[in-house]
Amino acid sequence: MVTLTSNRVTLRPWRENDLTSLVRHANNFNIWINLRDGFPHPYTEEAGRGWLKMAMNEATHLFLAIEVDGEAVGGIGATFKDDVYRINAEIGYWLSEEYWGQGLVSNAVTLLVDYIYDKYPAILRIYADLFSHNPASARVLQKCGFHLEAIHKNAVIKNGKVIDEHRYVKFR
Ligand SMILES: CC(C)(COP(=O)(O)OP(=O)(O)OC[C@H]1O[C@@H](n2cnc3c(N)ncnc32)[C@H](O)[C@@H]1OP(=O)(O)O)[C@@H](O)C(=O)NCCC(=O)NCCS
Repeated sequence: MVTLTSNRVTLRPWRENDLTSLVRHANNFNIWINLRDGFPHPYTEEAGRGWLKMAMNEATHLFLAIEVDGEAVGGIGATFKDDVYRINAEIGYWLSEEYWGQGLVSNAVTLLVDYIYDKYPAILRIYADLFSHNPASARVLQKCGFHLEAIHKNAVIKNGKVIDEHRYVKFR
């Protein structure tokens, strides 16, 4: 069971008793608008239960809670690609709006990237895909040593709008 800590941030496995804080913090349009639709809005208790069950039983990928001041206030994860892409991990993350702008996700991304490159020798490339309307996430990745690799034009439909996707990468 992985637990990573730096300054105010702890990354650790999700727990059943995170349900209340998960739903409270995840139920937010300003988070949803920047994530894939698998992250629902409104974020119901049922959705939270489904997420916790999946995340706690996941054997291949890493889905971790971002804990601050003893409470799960966000999530961060890595999915490990297969077949010819098996040298790649894709990361994703979200944080409760109450905590934005305090450097917490930059901290969390650094912890996760260092952990992946340490524990998964086959991974040579870590990337994140973000919507073109998300400069805060782009900034997080730049601060963590990622660079803009590609713009996928009109690749995404979110909230009824077709938008570009930006891929940021950090090589081993
Ligand atoms: C994006 C997100 C994860 C950032 O988390 P955070 O803990 O606030 O990030 P940090 O504080 O570590 O860094 C944010 C940086 O973006 C900057 N920023 C914030 N809003 C910005 C904007 N509109 N334009 C440009 N930069 C912006 C901040 O100033 C900060 O940079 P700085 O340290 O140089 O001042 C958080 O806002 C979030 O959960 N958003 C919704 C979900 C999401 O977008 N997930 C990522 C999907 S790819």
